[in-house]
Amino acid sequence: MPSGGTEIEVSRAYKLETGSRTVALDETQLLDTQRAFDSVAADYDGPRGNNELIQRMRLTLWDTVGHTFPAGSRLLDLGCGTGIDAAEFARRGYDVVATDWSPQMVERTRARANEHGLTARVKAVHVGVHQLDRLDDTFDGIYSNFGPLNCAPDLGAVAAECARLLRPGGTLVFSVIGRICPWELGYYTLKGRFKRAAVRAARGATAVGMNRHTIWTYYYLPREFYRAFASHFSLESYRALSLFMPPPYLVDVYRRHRAGYERMGRLDDRLGALPLLRDMGDHFLIVMRRR
Ligand SMILES: C[S@@+](CC[C@H](N)C(=O)[O-])C[C@H]1O[C@@H](n2cnc3c(N)ncnc32)[C@H](O)[C@@H]1O
Repeated sequence: MPSGGTEIEVSRAYKLETGSRTVALDETQLLDTQRAFDSVAADYDGPRGNNELIQRMRLTLWDTVGHTFPAGSRLLDLGCGTGIDAAEFARRGYDVVATDWSPQMVERTRARANEHGLTARVKAVHVGVHQLDRLDDTFDGIYSNFGPLNCAPDLGAVAAECARLLRPGGTLVFSVIGRICPWELGYYTLKGRFKRAAVRAARGATAVGMNRHTIWTYYYLPREFYRAFASHFSLESYRALSLFMPPPYLVDVYRRHRAGYERMGRLDDRLGALPLLRDMGDHFLIVMRRR
């Protein structure tokens, strides 16, 4: 298995330029990530994938999508997971094509749409973000929630495909795992786990464990992320998600002082879009418009 920063020679390696170094994410790594998410799909609506801190962050993307697109718009969901967002938007009157690289996640989305009588508005398709050339359609908007794009092997290629799939003036709304998470830095530094504290500093694909599997993850500053989209999209806005609030995996910390942390959450809502603050946080929410 190649480590971050190592150029590998495989027949179909996907490459990402990161500053001065080129790293590659090969098919083996994409399959690692697929297996990791397949393995948790059955219970991903529980604490791992949808605890109260995740639900809180989800609302910000829901509000942004709601304000950006009129009901009836056609939306593409990249990395739909179990289809919580797709179902919500279908209920609000949007038509959604929900895609994911994990077949088990796609199955969960399909089942959710069936269960809630939303099949006329949600179409679930097994397509990875590195396979968007397989879609032939036109959308008013594309959204992606909680980091599927952090697993994309070539963000520039994703940007070009999004530009192809969007109507002129169409909008992207993405929530992406950020590079500077003060909570994570502080929490693990105080525990003496320095390597864990610095995990987001890595350049290139980083192995992140989940359920005894590996998710290959790229971390971004908002400006690093936008750079891949800049030739096709103008930057509308970006903001921090869970900067003052603990990141979702520290939900036990939150539960011990719920009222205090709710105040922190209100600070996120009020201050998260301010310069400097918006460059930090567990995730950032970025909105870009097709030129
Ligand atoms: C943290 S989950 C978020 C799921 C969902 N968006 C949500 O809000 O609950 C990340 C999702 O990205 C998907 N994913 C990972 N790599 C992907 C890729 N290369 N293409 C598309 N989806 C991918 C995973 O299968 C998983 O469903």
